[in-house]
Amino acid sequence: MIHDISIDGPAASGKTVVGRRLAQGLDWWFLDTGVMYRAVTWLALERGVSTGDAGALGRLAEFVQVKPVSKDGDSVEVAGRRVGVELREPRVDNNVSNVSRHPAVRRALVVQQRNYAAAVARGLNGPSPASTESGIVMIGRDIGTVVLPDAGLKVFLTASAEERALRRRREMRERGEEIELATVLSEIQARDFIDSSRDDSPLRPASDAWRLDTSGITVDEAVEAILRQAEGR
Ligand code: CDP
Repeated sequence: MIHDISIDGPAASGKTVVGRRLAQGLDWWFLDTGVMYRAVTWLALERGVSTGDAGALGRLAEFVQVKPVSKDGDSVEVAGRRVGVELREPRVDNNVSNVSRHPAVRRALVVQQRNYAAAVARGLNGPSPASTESGIVMIGRDIGTVVLPDAGLKVFLTASAEERALRRRREMRERGEEIELATVLSEIQARDFIDSSRDDSPLRPASDAWRLDTSGITVDEAVEAILRQAEGR
């Protein structure tokens, strides 16, 4: 049986909701690596650090700590302070791709991501027999290609840009933010472009990734399809 699943894909392709539900269903750990890049970006904005200042951003990335306190993995601390909703601010959305393209930032965060997966593999649940059954679902842009190149199953989620813009606008509305669909669409496309064209760990499917288009299917259907792929591996 496999013990790690990577899920990569462009903005709003469904990675977070599908990945989290998949991890809950398997009773595995879940790590959304996008939150870590968002945390560096938020800290840079708070401290007035330019998105072009690779050295300073690399140092800021050292302040971002992801702690496996709960299986849901939503436990990111920035310089000792727990952060959450602030990572979804539009200013973070609009700057995160220009922060995450810097190798110094990626190096600092990838080390932590690998350590996290290694800690889960050692059995974070303690020495109970169940711990040997545990695993991790890690989501991002470069998990199957760079962070966990030996993942037992690599998933690459896609959906049309229009569908992704609709989803992102719905999420923003739920947080009380009103924004034109055309604006969301162009922001998503701008982020996809930067993420796919950067030199270090660009967004792309691993050669052995299994692709799933989530346009028009429900979250549960996507989770079931991934579980079918995982079966027998
Ligand atoms: O939620 P959404 O799909 O819009 O984005 P996210 O997963 O929170 O990631 C935010 C940004 O972080 C991405 O647009 C990438 O620039 C960066 N990122 C990355 O470079 N590598 C990862 N493994 C995860 C995120």
